[in-house]
Amino acid sequence: MDFSKVQFMLSAHSLGQLPDPIYPDIAFAGRSNVGKSSLINRLVRRANLVKTSSRPGKTQSLNYFLVDEGLYLVDLPGYGFAQVSQQTRKSWQGLITRYVETRSSLVCMVVIIDLRHELKKLDRELIDWLRYLHKPFLPVYTKADKLGRNDQRKNAALLDAGLTLTPADRIIFSSRTGQGLDQLKTKIAALVTGFQGSDEAADNDLTDPI
Ligand code: GTP
Ligand code: MG
Repeated sequence: MDFSKVQFMLSAHSLGQLPDPIYPDIAFAGRSNVGKSSLINRLVRRANLVKTSSRPGKTQSLNYFLVDEGLYLVDLPGYGFAQVSQQTRKSWQGLITRYVETRSSLVCMVVIIDLRHELKKLDRELIDWLRYLHKPFLPVYTKADKLGRNDQRKNAALLDAGLTLTPADRIIFSSRTGQGLDQLKTKIAALVTGFQGSDEAADNDLTDPI
């Protein structure tokens, strides 16, 4: 899969605007300003395909990017940003909740967490909810470049313990240095292959004699 073959598809403010689910979706979620859009830019090797900002709340809709005619990357609005109105927060939450619960082609939710900070309640709640729904998720601990290797290990172990994860379940990442990028690409490629596999299985069912 060539991640640099990427194009912006659309920006959805409601589920009716989503593209047909012909390719797998990998969605990127996390607190406002954690680095979701920067991670996607790094993944596709574009400095500014997805707009990033030092001000939280930059991404406000579901932004779809088509990669290599085989995968949708979905940049989600961030959560936990105090300076938006209650009303706006509710409508974002509603949209994301319905998206995760109903999107049949969502193969993985990448949950991005700041490696520098202790586990936040909203991150924990998101992962608990994904577990409850049996939705596959991949935690990515980002901004690793801000820490030395020892602190990276120490903080990652604390997050692992808080989320009941093992090191094999998550990735330590940096959009600045590209740390963890190969691991992330490998995991995503495997998820895409899995989606194609299940497609074929469905086709076979149709052609099998009854
Ligand atoms: P919203 O769309 O507002 O929810 O934010 P976001 O999660 O998409 O964050 P974004 O990618 O816009 O990045 C927020 C800020 O963090 C920007 O100033 C980025 O340059 C910075 N940033 C993102 N990733 C990293 C990283 O890995 N290392 C460092 N040092 N800074 C990062
Ligand atoms: Mg963003």
